[in-house]
Amino acid sequence: MNTIKHFLQFQDLSREEFEYIFTRAKIIKSRFKNYQTYHPLLDRTLAMIFEKQSTRTRLSFEAGMHQLGGSAIYLNTRDTQLGRGEPVEDAAEVISRMVDIVMIRTFEQEVIERFAAHSRVPVINGLTNEYHPCQIMADIYTYIERYGSITGKTVAWVGDSNNMCNTWLQAAVVFDFNVHVSTPPGYEVEPERAGLYDTTHFESFADPMEACRGAHLVTTDVWTSMGFEAENEERKRDFQDWQVDTEMMQIAAPDSLFMHCLPAHRGEEVAAEVIDSAQSVVWEEAENRLHTQKALMEYLLLGALA
Ligand code: CP
Ligand code: NVA
Repeated sequence: MNTIKHFLQFQDLSREEFEYIFTRAKIIKSRFKNYQTYHPLLDRTLAMIFEKQSTRTRLSFEAGMHQLGGSAIYLNTRDTQLGRGEPVEDAAEVISRMVDIVMIRTFEQEVIERFAAHSRVPVINGLTNEYHPCQIMADIYTYIERYGSITGKTVAWVGDSNNMCNTWLQAAVVFDFNVHVSTPPGYEVEPERAGLYDTTHFESFADPMEACRGAHLVTTDVWTSMGFEAENEERKRDFQDWQVDTEMMQIAAPDSLFMHCLPAHRGEEVAAEVIDSAQSVVWEEAENRLHTQKALMEYLLLGALA
C-alpha cells in the first residue's frame, strides 16, 4: 500500500499541517531575506512536469528547490514521452525512481491522481482543471501574514467557478471561513467537481455586489482558464458584469484585501484601479508561493521537524 503523503487537493492536508507549514514558511522566508543559507534538501531532486504554461509555478518551485540545496528538472509534454502516449502510470513508476519529489501541472485531476497512485515519492499539484492548492496555500498565508487569522472571515469569489474557486471552497472547510460566490448563470459551482462534501461554508449570490458586501477579502481569476480557450469569446460576453471594480471593493469591509493568482487581465475580470490599488496584495501572493512551497517540500520530504 502506498502511504506517501501527496498534496493533490487542498483537503489532503489538515489545518494542523498547514499551520505547521506556515510556521516553517515564516522562518524560511526570514532566513532567505537575510541571505542565510538553508540546505535541508541537499542532493534531493524535484521533477516538474508541465502540460500547461506557467511563469510563477515554475519559477517558485525551481528557485525554491535550489534555495533548499536541491535541484529541479523541468519536463514538458512536448519534449517527453508523455506527449507520445506513454501511460501516466508507467511514467510515474520511472520518474519516481529517479527523483525525490514531483510537481505536476496538467489538465484533468484524474491524471495527477493516477500518477500519484504509482509514485514512490510525494506528488504536488501545480494546477489541474479542478484545483490549484499551492496558490490557495500561498493566498491564505498572505492573509494570515497581514491579519493574523482567516477563521470566521468572509471571502468573496467573483467570476468563474474554476480551479481557484473550487480550492477556496475546500480551504474554507479546513480553515473555517465563509466563501460568497457569484458566477454568471451557467457557470455555477459544482460541489462534486469541487470535491466539496461540506457546503456549510459556502453561499451563492446572483449579484456580485451582494457577494462582496462586508467581505474581508475579494478575489477573482481569469474568465477563461487554460484548456478552455475555445470558449473565450462566449465567456467575454457572459462575464462582463463580473468584473471586480471599485464599487465592489467599496461595499466590502473597509480593511478588505484584493487577491488574484495572476496572470490578470486588467479591464476584464478586474479593473486596473483595483489590482493596482493599496488594497491589492497580488505581488505578496506571488512572492509567498516561493516561501510556502519551500515549507511544503520540506514537510513532505522530511516530516515535521522537532
Ligand atoms: N498563479 C500561477 O499559478 O501562475 P503561473 O500560471 O504563472 O504558474
Ligand atoms: N484559473 C487559471 C489559473 C492560472 C494560474 C487557469 O487555470 O488557467
